Amino acid sequence: MTQGPLTTEAGAPVADNQNSETAGVGGPVLVQDQLLLEKLAHFNRERIPERVVHARGAGAYGTFTVTADVTQYTRAKFLSEVGKETETFLRFSTVAGNLGAADAVRDPRGFALKFYTEEGNYDLVGNNTPVFFIKDAIKFPDFIHTQKRDPYTGSTEMDNVWDFWSLSPESTHQVTWLFGDRGIPASYRHMDGFGSHTYQWSNEAGEAFWVKYHFKTDQGIKCLTQAEADKLAGEDPDSHQRDLREAIERGEFPSWTVGVQVMPVADAAKYRFNPFDLTKVWPHADYPVIEFGKLELNRNPENIFAEVEQSIFSPAHFVPGIGPSPDKMLQGRLFAYGDAHRYRVGINADHLPVNRPHATDARTNSRDGYLYDGRHKGAKNYEPNSFGGPFQTDKALWQPVAVSGVTGDHEAPSHAEDNDFVQAGNLYRLMTDEEKERLVNNLAGAISQVSREDIIERAVNNFRQADGDFGKRLEAAVQALRG
Ligand code: HEM
Repeated sequence: MTQGPLTTEAGAPVADNQNSETAGVGGPVLVQDQLLLEKLAHFNRERIPERVVHARGAGAYGTFTVTADVTQYTRAKFLSEVGKETETFLRFSTVAGNLGAADAVRDPRGFALKFYTEEGNYDLVGNNTPVFFIKDAIKFPDFIHTQKRDPYTGSTEMDNVWDFWSLSPESTHQVTWLFGDRGIPASYRHMDGFGSHTYQWSNEAGEAFWVKYHFKTDQGIKCLTQAEADKLAGEDPDSHQRDLREAIERGEFPSWTVGVQVMPVADAAKYRFNPFDLTKVWPHADYPVIEFGKLELNRNPENIFAEVEQSIFSPAHFVPGIGPSPDKMLQGRLFAYGDAHRYRVGINADHLPVNRPHATDARTNSRDGYLYDGRHKGAKNYEPNSFGGPFQTDKALWQPVAVSGVTGDHEAPSHAEDNDFVQAGNLYRLMTDEEKERLVNNLAGAISQVSREDIIERAVNNFRQADGDFGKRLEAAVQALRG
């Protein structure tokens, strides 16, 4: 902003910003006080709808650097050479809380990353957990309703949370993860990130691979106990946001080592787990993580509203050589985010500085709408045209996927070792006895707040099916708390 006198929005100098204009001393206020009316009206319109999930977050710009050759798997240009750097913007978040909620809560953390590549923006909209609660997008609105405020009480209700989870046994793995030691990260810097879904990579020769992304924190994992989190949430609701900003201001740039698990396409049909089931991981013994990059965050946004609140990330933003898998959750997300952006930020959201491509131009024939800035000037707005307008490439971003059968409300296919509990049980059995104890106590603390015995029994039974010892200890701990 240039220096000089305060002005109205139309640029006229302001004489008095302390006293509104009245009809005589002590008289009523005049409608001709443009400054007063303009200020009140603008203030009323300062908020846009908060994100329906992940409303609370913090973001930073950074740099992604390729550290190993992955060109045998993908033709994405930003991954084409070791040492190549790409600008990024990462927004971290919690899921369930509203915009003003506290950061230090037991909740997954969002890890939404935008790569400003020369072939367009690539968004990887992940979490700090490798799996999720459900495996079909059709269940997402119901699930989130149980995490948010009850229509009658206006509060989050443990009855709703555990009713849904206990009736959705596929959630057992993610719930075991969430109530374990990693369920409350100490900060956004001290946690890993995951793409979570399976995505497709494809190389120059047109060969396709199924991949899962991993971001390993170089700061080390640090978490809070429930008691520490409860205290911090009260004392410093902005703890994560502050920690990230201050670390970057100090020049302590957080970084993550980036890797990928790669599954040859031919393996998918016979793999022991459905590789497109978001409630399952691919054990590293089956597909090791191949390191290929480093992500560093090194620049704070200058204006939170413009750059964080109005930032948009979509799982449907792919670049050549990267595409979706048939994961039913991912398929739903390909629609949901763009739709949310059009509602929340508007039809020209992708023109904002944080959202538009930085290393190339967007060349579309879409025009006009609210807050269109006229960027296309007089260029023709249709294709094909013979005036030198943008043209199609005839080359798909990703490789086709073979399908068979008839349309229908099909459950995702079940593979040899698939059931809703196997990986939750494996996760439990990996824990030390102290870790198991804390997990059981955290779960019991939440489940014991449920008002109905049948919901409690159904919830405990899911963990019992994951592991007999898990179920026994949880049942005893819940009983002890309920007396
Ligand atoms: C079918 C399931 C899902 C649906 C329908 C869904 C939908 C949404 C919607 C509508 C938003 C708000 C977007 C906005 O207003 O800009 C959002 C945000 C977000 N979701 Fe999902 N989501 C789903 C599952 C997931 C999963 C599985 C992950 C992680 C693996 C995830 C990660 C995120 C993140 C990180 C954000 C915040 C993005 C940002 O910082 O702007 N979501 N989701």
